[in-house]
Amino acid sequence: MTDTIVDAHTSDADTVVNIGWSNGVTARFHAIWLRDNSLDTSTRNPGNGQRLITIGDIDPSTKIQQIEIHEDGLGVAVKFSPDNVRSDFSSPWLLDNRYDKLVSKADHKDGWVSYRHESWTSSSMQDRIPRASWMELQSSRQVLRQWLLAIDRFGFAVVEGIPLHSGAICEVAEIFGFVRETNYGKWFDVVAEVTPQNLANTNLGLQAHTDNPYRDPVPTLQILGCLENSVLGGESAVVDGFAIAKFLQESDGNAFDILARHPIRFLYEGTDDVSLSAKRPIFELGPDGELLAVRFNNRSAAPFIDIEFGDMEEFYGAYRKFAMCLDDPSFSVRFKLEPGQAFIVDNTRVLHARTAFDGSGKRWLQGCYADKDGLRSTLRVLERELINDQAN
Ligand code: FE2
Repeated sequence: MTDTIVDAHTSDADTVVNIGWSNGVTARFHAIWLRDNSLDTSTRNPGNGQRLITIGDIDPSTKIQQIEIHEDGLGVAVKFSPDNVRSDFSSPWLLDNRYDKLVSKADHKDGWVSYRHESWTSSSMQDRIPRASWMELQSSRQVLRQWLLAIDRFGFAVVEGIPLHSGAICEVAEIFGFVRETNYGKWFDVVAEVTPQNLANTNLGLQAHTDNPYRDPVPTLQILGCLENSVLGGESAVVDGFAIAKFLQESDGNAFDILARHPIRFLYEGTDDVSLSAKRPIFELGPDGELLAVRFNNRSAAPFIDIEFGDMEEFYGAYRKFAMCLDDPSFSVRFKLEPGQAFIVDNTRVLHARTAFDGSGKRWLQGCYADKDGLRSTLRVLERELINDQAN
């Protein structure tokens, strides 16, 4: 049941609206903020909901000329001065969008990263790897929603039973979004080669890493699928970089700060026609200190030239500590990809690794990149469908 508005009055020379709800919640809104977010048809396109005005179109002296609570208490009608624009604001809209200090942080769901994100380690995740069958992902909106939700929550998931033909990996991305094409193509092979352009194409073990840290922006999702795997070894592992960041922050705050404060460079020039580079810290923080992304790849880290001479030894100490956590089995979840299985990782949060393998058999993987915006958009649409279904 929607909470009704029981009080709506202006203050601060009509530049502020004070709203009170029947459940005791109160919130203030600036007149200029309400005018900017007016929901009338001259301010918002009724078709697509996009704003039709710029901040320059709003008079800086905007005030509230009149405010009235709807008869049923489910909204307010506001008239602004000096432009005489009228707009209604519903009670749920005002509750959802309030920004007053009285609002607890939890009321605003997403921060820089998904509010659903949940850190994990080997002990909490090894026995509950999120899995779905390819057939069900295609036929059941519910299974698709739960699988996408798991990726949003844990930063990785497995899919089983994908088609065993070259390029099929792209179909996994296309079930929720779009493939990100790169210099490696729409999709790429990961097989042991005699003269590899990338160390991924050897039988060497690969330390946990994020892919393509030399890009700006990085592909935010990676999907890696198996077409053939008859080698000894060659297991896959995933590591929650956010869990390691949290561990470092709690156990050695100085090491965390060093890795967040100092940028390093990543570089890839594996072929003559490519020179990709990016400069970023291992832990990327927002201005409010929230962890936004982890970026690390020992193979493509360039010489560290952005760290002061006096800070270098301390940096190497923190860098080693981080790498030791990556190698620590207590942080990783392991599985061997069988033909027809693929995993997807949030490439800004979860690092992936593989163990070395014996060259006597064949290990043929294919990968592709995609982005989280498409995944989260599809997830939100599926969740909206669910809410509508439950309401009907
Ligand atoms: Fe990789």
